[in-house]
Amino acid sequence: MAERVGSRTDLSQTVFGVTFHSPVLLASGTCGYGQEYADLIPLDDIGGIVTKAVSVEPRVGNPPHRVAETPGGMINAIGLENVGLEVFRNEKLPWLDRALERAQVLVNVVGRSADEYEAVVSGLDAEQGFLGYEINVSCPNVKGGTMFGTDEAVLGGLVRRLRRATERPLVIKLTPNVADVGVFAKICESEGADGLSAINTFPGMVVDIDRRVPLIGNGSGGISGPAILPMGVYATWRVRQSCELPIIGIGGIRNGADAMQYILAGACLVQVGTASFVDPNAAVDVHAGIAAYLERSEVDSLAELVGGLAFPAARK
Ligand SMILES: Cc1cc2nc3c(=O)[nH]c(=O)nc-3n(C[C@H](O)[C@H](O)[C@H](O)COP(=O)(O)O)c2cc1C
Repeated sequence: MAERVGSRTDLSQTVFGVTFHSPVLLASGTCGYGQEYADLIPLDDIGGIVTKAVSVEPRVGNPPHRVAETPGGMINAIGLENVGLEVFRNEKLPWLDRALERAQVLVNVVGRSADEYEAVVSGLDAEQGFLGYEINVSCPNVKGGTMFGTDEAVLGGLVRRLRRATERPLVIKLTPNVADVGVFAKICESEGADGLSAINTFPGMVVDIDRRVPLIGNGSGGISGPAILPMGVYATWRVRQSCELPIIGIGGIRNGADAMQYILAGACLVQVGTASFVDPNAAVDVHAGIAAYLERSEVDSLAELVGGLAFPAARK
């Protein structure tokens, strides 16, 4: 598909030492560990997948309801339910290694402490089947989930420690829930991160007015989907201004035009999350939409457009 669609254009992006044949990845938590999606779309047609968060121990997650539709998107409070390091390493990773030829894999990592983050990274580092890590310091749906992403000193210490633990690509997934995401991006760069994902969900709440209780079992949850597209694009642009690291743009992407906003704002790769729940083929369509944009614009290579946003100098 990736070649057939837009065959005259080059959508590949060379980043983290490898070439992604497509700039479109599936976002963490919205495609399981890849296997769940394998019957729905040809995973090698897209650039890659980001796994569900992996923690040291398995987690059961939050009580129901865990998801609900919201205006222009959805709320989720899954609570980082996952199989844990051992099952991921022994069952999920070998499947990814066997099943994927071209699609790259980033493992999303979460922990309650720096020790736990490091234990996951150290426990996986010698294995095959994945490129690197996306470090989730930005989950609003569990107690302390954003602690690592909203405190400058804590974030810096975590990145420094993980940098020592691995030579693989280390991508930090930023939370938009701070005054200036650019400050946090700069810290990650200074401490040796290889890239940044922007952004995770925004905290939100839905009230069940008949029962007069929060609809979501956890009380609050993370808002994703089209409603957060402009915030994600803004965060990407702020990050681009504050540091040189490659950026993976995330939030509300449904089509090629949405993805192009992120790319012009400075992202070299994008992730598709909530849109896949509406149409499992969304990521493949986003790829085709980017190709169509390039053809329409008579641009041969996507790389030429990364960060190509013209902006009045006075507003920078
Ligand atoms: C059901 C669900 C589960 C998610 N789980 C994770 C997760 O485990 N780790 C993570 O870093 N982000 C997780 N996210 C956040 C997404 O990866 C993404 O950053 C966010 O949904 C914004 O993108 P979107 O608007 O395209 O969905 C989850 C999102 C949803 C909707």
